[in-house]
Amino acid sequence: MPQTPLRTDRLELVPLSDEHIELEVELDADALVLRYLHPRARTRDEVVAKHAERMKCASLVDGLGMWIGFTRAQQREFVGLWMLQPLHGPSQTFAPDEADLGYRLLRRWWRQGYASEGARELIRHGFDDLGLTRIIAQTMAVNRPSRATMETLGMRFARTFHEHYDEPLPGVEHGEVEYELRRSDWL
Ligand SMILES: CC(C)(COP(=O)(O)OP(=O)(O)OC[C@H]1O[C@@H](n2cnc3c(N)ncnc32)[C@H](O)[C@@H]1OP(=O)(O)O)[C@@H](O)C(=O)NCCC(=O)NCCS
Repeated sequence: MPQTPLRTDRLELVPLSDEHIELEVELDADALVLRYLHPRARTRDEVVAKHAERMKCASLVDGLGMWIGFTRAQQREFVGLWMLQPLHGPSQTFAPDEADLGYRLLRRWWRQGYASEGARELIRHGFDDLGLTRIIAQTMAVNRPSRATMETLGMRFARTFHEHYDEPLPGVEHGEVEYELRRSDWL
């Protein structure tokens, strides 16, 4: 099953495709947006490489992947990137009925409820349409905005863990946190 386009009151969420590369370049050009994710703004070439990884991830499990969010207002504007990805990476164990939620917005859209609005729809989609049983989200312990968003979504703190980074970000000594939402609790 290919990824489905989704909608909320204010957002249109479109499955990520090659036509969105310039939007990803714009998003990752802001070092503040990447403050808890990467040591510096990404160059265009780095984003193009990232885009290929993101597209690959979208092909691993039916329905999961990344979505580009636009406003549904008359003037359709790019807001950010939302993710519902298969579990992957050193601190995640793959399970076909679980997924990793993420979000990253252009700075001008912060604090207006957009991240949680889009994420709520991805959670609904994951549980209702894709049959997931558990959705997690991970971030640096010091990423207050991301943790606040997880809490707003009704996700529960699950654990703190530590990862090795070649270029550690400030605050890494506090570790990473994982939040989770189980389908049974969401219902
Ligand atoms: C994290 C991020 C996506 C939040 O986006 P947002 O659209 O501002 O979030 P929302 O407006 O939906 O807010 C959700 C909740 O978090 C709270 N929140 C958001 N930013 C906050 C901040 N800087 N400090 C404290 N609380 C914050 C909101 O008040 C809201 O809580 P409420 O429902 O109790 O009012 C945004 O800050 C961002 O893109 N950051 C950079 C990328 C990033 O770090 N992504 C996460 C990586 S894992």
